[in-house]
Amino acid sequence: MTESLLEAVGLRRSFTHPSGDIEVLRGLELRVGAGELVTVSGRSGSGKSALLALLCGFDSPDSGCVLLDGVPISGAPPWHTCAVLPQALGLANELTIAENVALPLRLRSDVPRPSPAAIHERVTELLGELGIGELGDRYPLEVSFGQQQRVALARAVAGRPRVLLTDEPTAHLDAGSTPRVLRLLRRCASEGAAVIVATHDDEVHRIADRRVRLLDGVLTALLD
Ligand SMILES: Nc1ncnc2c1ncn2[C@@H]1O[C@H](COP(=O)(O)OP(=O)(O)OP(=O)(O)O)[C@@H](O)[C@H]1O
Ligand SMILES: [Mg+2]
Repeated sequence: MTESLLEAVGLRRSFTHPSGDIEVLRGLELRVGAGELVTVSGRSGSGKSALLALLCGFDSPDSGCVLLDGVPISGAPPWHTCAVLPQALGLANELTIAENVALPLRLRSDVPRPSPAAIHERVTELLGELGIGELGDRYPLEVSFGQQQRVALARAVAGRPRVLLTDEPTAHLDAGSTPRVLRLLRRCASEGAAVIVATHDDEVHRIADRRVRLLDGVLTALLD
């Protein structure tokens, strides 16, 4: 069996609302190996985004833990280890699209920083691959939401993270753009990343190595 790169053990997470507490995750378990692409489905409000926030360390569980290489994370791991395409994108609107995608490469501190030419090459490659090669000099608010979503995906992928978490990566795309995104996600996995994709989209489920469904706070395996 593949060694787990990312592991969720007994994750519990409740949220307080005026109408009372809701327990969204109820002892959830998940193991994902390097090179594996796993899709997570589940109705709206089932907790997919809440799960991804715990897996990337943006949020903390009430109990249980997330392990990376068998070691519990505390807070968010470095972006080059675990990168995220959040559902709300979180682009820096004051930076151009090319600058947004380059940001993780510029900020990386663990390796000699790539040269400006190497960064430019990587950014150009990714934007082209995602069909938005002509938008690099624009600002996020000057392009469509579906285009912004691909920018946020390029930013997540740019530094070749070991774990890639993507939340509804095809939710705002036209039919022509979806295959580009799927090809990129598959390539990240084939290059060795553990890729987790929260999605309602059957086309995404089709490229998965494994599919799970979030229901009543736990994951169950989905068979073909
Ligand atoms: N920060 C928060 N504060 C309060 N409640 C929250 C918070 N985050 C999530 N929730 C609640 O947790 C539940 C799950 O939300 P989540 O966003 O994870 O669902 P989802 O499965 O991603 O839905 P969708 O498919 O619509 O994106 C919802 O009932 C939501 O209201
Ligand atoms: Mg969500």
